[in-house]
Amino acid sequence: MPDWDQHYLLREAGEQSPADVLIQNEHLLPVSGKVLDYACGLGANACWLAAKGYSVTAWDGSAIAIDKIKKYAASQALTIHAEVRDLENNPPTAAEFDLVIVSFFLHRPTLKKLQAILKPGGLLCYQTFSGEQSNGRGPSNPEFRLQQGELLKTFADMKILFYREDNGVGNLQQGLRDQVMFIAAKK
Ligand SMILES: C[S@@+](CC[C@H](N)C(=O)[O-])C[C@H]1O[C@@H](n2cnc3c(N)ncnc32)[C@H](O)[C@@H]1O
Repeated sequence: MPDWDQHYLLREAGEQSPADVLIQNEHLLPVSGKVLDYACGLGANACWLAAKGYSVTAWDGSAIAIDKIKKYAASQALTIHAEVRDLENNPPTAAEFDLVIVSFFLHRPTLKKLQAILKPGGLLCYQTFSGEQSNGRGPSNPEFRLQQGELLKTFADMKILFYREDNGVGNLQQGLRDQVMFIAAKK
C-alpha cells in the first residue's frame, strides 16, 4: 500500500470527521456490540464509535495509518483493535460483527463478502462516491465509484433501512450529488 502510506505520512488521526451516514443515522445503530471500521484510513469512524462505547476493530492496508490510529487512540484513552490487513487479498469471512462501516473504499470483487462478516441482524453502513466524477471530488476511475443502485442490487437480500442517492434530480447546487449512503441489516 505504498501510495496510501505516503498519503498518511502527511496526515494525523483525530483530524477527520466520521462519515455522515453514521452521524445522520445514529438512531439506527445497535446500542452496543462489536463493530468494524473497514479500510479505516486514520480511523475517524473507529474513534467516533469507540467514544460511544462500542468494541471497535479497525482494518486498513496502510501500516502508517494503523500506527497513527493506535497512538491517537492511546492518547485519547480509546480502545481500538487496529490491524494492518490487505482486504483485497485477505478479506474476512467470520460472521462476528454487529456493525460494519465502510467509507470511501470500494473493491467490487469482495463487496458481497461484507455481508458474511455480519451477525444476523447486524448492520452494513456504507458511504462512498458514485456515478461519474463531475466536480473533481473522489476517484475518476469507475472501478472505485458505485454505479446507480449498485448497493441495492448487491445487497438485495438484506433489509434496507436507509438509502440516499440524489443523482441529477432537482437543484443540483444542493444535496449529495456524488455519493451514496446506505444502511442495511443482515436477515
Ligand atoms: C479513501 S481512503 C478512506 C479511508 C477511511 N475509510 C475514510 O473514510 O477516511 C481508502 C482507504 O482504503 C485503504 N485500502 C486501499 N486498498 C486496500 C486494501 N487492499 N486493503 C486494505 N485497505 C486498503 C487505504 O489504505 C485507505 O486508507
